[in-house]
Amino acid sequence: MLAYERESRSPWNIFARSIAQEVAFRVLAIAHRGASGYAPENTFAAFRRAVAQGVSFIETDLQLTRDAHLVAIHDDTVDRTTGGHGAVQHMTLAEIRRLDAGAWFASEFIGERIPTLEEILVFSKKNDVVFYLELKPNGFWGGEHALISALRESGEIPRVVVISFDPVILSSLRNIDPTLMVGLLFDGKIENPFQKAVEIGARQLAVRGDLVTPNLLHEARKRDLQVVCWTVNSPAHMRLLASGGVDGIMSDYPDLLLTSLKK
Ligand code: G3P
Ligand code: CA
Repeated sequence: MLAYERESRSPWNIFARSIAQEVAFRVLAIAHRGASGYAPENTFAAFRRAVAQGVSFIETDLQLTRDAHLVAIHDDTVDRTTGGHGAVQHMTLAEIRRLDAGAWFASEFIGERIPTLEEILVFSKKNDVVFYLELKPNGFWGGEHALISALRESGEIPRVVVISFDPVILSSLRNIDPTLMVGLLFDGKIENPFQKAVEIGARQLAVRGDLVTPNLLHEARKRDLQVVCWTVNSPAHMRLLASGGVDGIMSDYPDLLLTSLKK
């Protein structure tokens, strides 16, 4: 049984849930790594599929190359999702761009490349979507400046939410540019994530889906923090979280998510 279910059986919570159902339609549907259940994660094929399925929010992971470019890839190394080998932080952008990021998923995606942050910002504007940019901390020294500089250059600061498990990265980003909206990722490892999120000026707490409970939502609300959760692929869990009042859900299957939110 999920923690949410255990904690949500009191009469008060049943009442709160029925009120929350009224606003279930307002839950943000966020495509996790694009529509990564249908296309290779963190590629334009996955981002295009997410837009085609109707979401307005896409999450992607950013890693820093040796020559200080931010590129969309989840792992520290290119091994799992490309034909290449090695750590992203030891490779140049030119080396990264030569890799195929689609063949591992299915032959129809051969030729997909690892996107750059700059390309993602052009895509987000063109398709009118907001990107959740997750900064992966490995080898991230100086990455804050690369990020803010690319965002300023594009004029798209309002079109992104920057998320990270590392509060120090988020803090320094907000020091460089206080207009940036940030969210603290929480997987159960940080002590008092609410206080930490408030301290760094985060607007959102991005919580692993199985850790969301009525009490967690209540504590977040008290501090005016929005709660988005990841990565939820079961329609029953999507409906439970939506009716409980989360502000957003990330899923590898945006079409299932949108359908679940409408029920
Ligand atoms: O951004 C939320 C979630 O994506 C964090 O976990 O490993 O999928 O990046 P991961
Ligand atoms: Ca992520």
